[in-house]
Amino acid sequence: MDRQAGKKRAGEEAAKYVERGMTLGLGTGSTARCFVDALAGKAADGWGLRGVPTSEETRRQAEAIGIEIIIPDETTVIDLAVDGTDEADPQRNLIKGGGAALLREKIVANAARRFIVIADKSKRVAALGAFALPIEIEPFGWALTVRNIRAVLASAGFDGVGVELRAREGEVVKSDGGHLIIDCALGRIDNPANLDRALKAIPGVIETGLFCGMADMIIYADETGVSIDQA
Ligand code: 5RP
Repeated sequence: MDRQAGKKRAGEEAAKYVERGMTLGLGTGSTARCFVDALAGKAADGWGLRGVPTSEETRRQAEAIGIEIIIPDETTVIDLAVDGTDEADPQRNLIKGGGAALLREKIVANAARRFIVIADKSKRVAALGAFALPIEIEPFGWALTVRNIRAVLASAGFDGVGVELRAREGEVVKSDGGHLIIDCALGRIDNPANLDRALKAIPGVIETGLFCGMADMIIYADETGVSIDQA
């Protein structure tokens, strides 16, 4: 499977749902990048698009093609949010956060009138969990929070699983908001909504990468075509 071709096609397909004057939630990652790329012509043609980006990386890309970047206030209506995913199950539950943007992504997806997920077909799974679950946590007292995460995981049936502070090339990874990411190798998550609730109850846990019941539509694509999963 040519995954990059799938990402590009999914991004182009999602761009068909964009209308003039819309305020868009803009996701993060290589697939979300394809969606923003697909908006370049519309932005150049004066469609008056405004964007709420979920990362600095996406903000730079969107700004460069002429999308007006806005900081949302209480009156902001996000018409449509479009984002990638790391995994998606048949109930349209997701694991996100591979790009450490999960908190902002969840805030924006939750606020949007419609949330469309775009993915190459490799992201479709029968059950979530092969991709390590990212959890965004507060740096203060982080090791204590990790101890509690291990305890909650153990009582949910995930005793002794890998729980790691995310680091790249020897550097601890921080989200744009300055938080840490903990990756949990769970294997298979049978009840993602319950696990999300249990993890969120731990002081120090800011957000989890489980997006349950949020996606209105998932656009899967590969080099041969597109398939749509929606309620
Ligand atoms: C970033 C995310 C991304 O949407 C997810 O990691 C998918 O990324 P990609 O499109 O590069 O495969 O959740 O926090």
